[in-house]
Amino acid sequence: MKQYKVLTHQDLESVRSTRELFGLEVLLGLSKTEKSLPSRFFYDDEGSRLFQQITNLDDYYLTGAEHRILDVNKGKLAEMMGGESFNLIDLGSGDGRKTNQLLEEFIRRNLNFTYTPIDISEAAVQLQMKDLEDRFSALNVEGIVAEYFDGLLWHSHQSKERNFVLFLGSNIGNFHRGQARAFLRSVWNFLKPDDCILIGFDLKKNIERMVRAYNDTEGVTRAFNLNLLTRINRELEGNFVLSNWRHYANYDVFSGAMESYLVSKVEQEVYIREVNQRFNFLPFEPIHTEYSYKFLVSDIEQLAADTGFVIEHQLFDDDRDFVDSIWRVVKEVD
Ligand code: AVJ
Repeated sequence: MKQYKVLTHQDLESVRSTRELFGLEVLLGLSKTEKSLPSRFFYDDEGSRLFQQITNLDDYYLTGAEHRILDVNKGKLAEMMGGESFNLIDLGSGDGRKTNQLLEEFIRRNLNFTYTPIDISEAAVQLQMKDLEDRFSALNVEGIVAEYFDGLLWHSHQSKERNFVLFLGSNIGNFHRGQARAFLRSVWNFLKPDDCILIGFDLKKNIERMVRAYNDTEGVTRAFNLNLLTRINRELEGNFVLSNWRHYANYDVFSGAMESYLVSKVEQEVYIREVNQRFNFLPFEPIHTEYSYKFLVSDIEQLAADTGFVIEHQLFDDDRDFVDSIWRVVKEVD
């Protein structure tokens, strides 16, 4: 018989570098009639640093609101965990500052748990590990540098304990409605009955405030958005001229999301060596770079029901800008 080969993950892993995957996504995105780049590529080391800076801005109300929610409710969360040991899995932990107040409370109450932060930025995970070492030297930590699913898949094969997943900061807002559903259903699939997930949702509010959060007066969000082009220049040998681009972000009333763009100021051609391709841009032509969906409470209820969870608690801040929604996994056996 003729020979054939079943491709395994390892086979593919050895030929496909991260850079090639990045190049492929950039090629796909910039080859469309309506050009776009995926927002998860914002988070190289510089992008993660700029995002940390965004979270300190007054205009960017999300982080402060969630901070207050966790601070007011940390005791309640500790009580929810009960006596048994558990895993606290932090998806997209970043610098982990919001999680620190939970860790502090859980440690103070002598809860028995392992903390597993998962983030795509190695620099962010390194910094967080250092910080955790200084603050909570006795804490059991297993940091993972990975995309969400790879991290969860890996982790779910390591441990059989109860899981409490954190998906803070309205990171869910970067997904399309359909993607959010698919994502949460996959998380559900990794989890066991009675495992819980806490999801941060940014709520729909005064449109001017939402717009200001993505057009801060200090220009950090602008730098964050433009850094995507710097990253393409560096990692894929592109020749984007940064001064030929402007940051633009608006609230799209139909999608219900803040949407971010890089808009070409002039007619221009950009060459990206790694993919050996030239891209032409007209003046005013946009590259779509990010969706940050905003939610109604009814959207959240629908999402939970659609993906196999029941809502246990809705934790709002005083101004009702933001909600940390706690869901429990339900798996009916019949
Ligand atoms: C980290 C995805 C929640 O969408 O609000 C901040 C990223 N983009 N400013 C968001 C972001 C522009 C942020 N998330």
